[in-house]
Amino acid sequence: MTRHAIITGASRGIGRAIALGLAGRGYDLALTDIGPQEATLAQTAGEVRALGRRCITILADVAKPEDCRRTAAEALAGLGHVDVLVNNAGILKLASIEDLTPEVWDQTMTVNARGVFQMTQAVMPHMRERKYGRIVNIASLAARTGGPGQSHYAASKSAVVGFTRVSSMELGQYGITVNAVCPGIIVTEMGMNNLRDPERVAHFERVTDLHRLGQPEDVVGPVAFFASDDSAFVTGQALNVDGGIFYS
Ligand SMILES: NC(=O)c1ccc[n+]([C@@H]2O[C@H](COP(=O)([O-])OP(=O)(O)OC[C@H]3O[C@@H](n4cnc5c(N)ncnc54)[C@H](O)[C@@H]3O)[C@@H](O)[C@H]2O)c1
Repeated sequence: MTRHAIITGASRGIGRAIALGLAGRGYDLALTDIGPQEATLAQTAGEVRALGRRCITILADVAKPEDCRRTAAEALAGLGHVDVLVNNAGILKLASIEDLTPEVWDQTMTVNARGVFQMTQAVMPHMRERKYGRIVNIASLAARTGGPGQSHYAASKSAVVGFTRVSSMELGQYGITVNAVCPGIIVTEMGMNNLRDPERVAHFERVTDLHRLGQPEDVVGPVAFFASDDSAFVTGQALNVDGGIFYS
């Protein structure tokens, strides 16, 4: 049976790479993103279809519980069943603790952490009924270490790792695995927050064991592993995908 996956925030960057990577591995897809990304989302969906896979698009904000419920319903209606949920949508707005506002703190926690919870809650009844599911949460190296200006982002991604651990405990009995990946410095629009200064780029290349920055495609293999039956006995894990920067 063809496997089906929902990927949030899939129009560009890491989400787009995961969409193309899973499509290349034979998955049919439901891709979501927010309204302003409509054209880019359609473009990514076109690339997935060009690989011969079915692909539906859903404009939805993971911060809104009603959008998450609608995403699950539309994905089920469009695809028939859902095997995999990749919680990829996220935001990063750099601010030192001194300058950080409660609004940016709340927005970051709402999109990055509450969005993961809301999408999990929306999709899990279907997975529980089928006694099968793979949930892959995109956390971050920031959950391990973070950097200046990222206190709120690091807090939100640490929340994702904690949520992953307990989701695994609660959902394992239904045949659902829940794992996280923690990407390091990946060259995307978000990643550019860390990469505008050539000295910072040189620093990251120096302290990464593989001596290079990550590309969105570098995140695909680990996500595909957690999405597949190759990881059937792996759950509750958070895997660094960072070229060896964390332990440097
Ligand atoms: N780039 C990096 O260095 C890096 C490192 C570690 C983790 N991550 C994580 O990887 C994920 C993807 O990041 P990226 O680098 O591709 O960033 P990106 O900004 O290129 O892509 C993020 C996508 O999420 C979407 N999105 C934002 N808010 C949303 C919302 N409320 N609802 C639905 N979609 C929303 C955006 O529109 C965008 O398409 C994020 O969770 C990010 O935190 C990125």
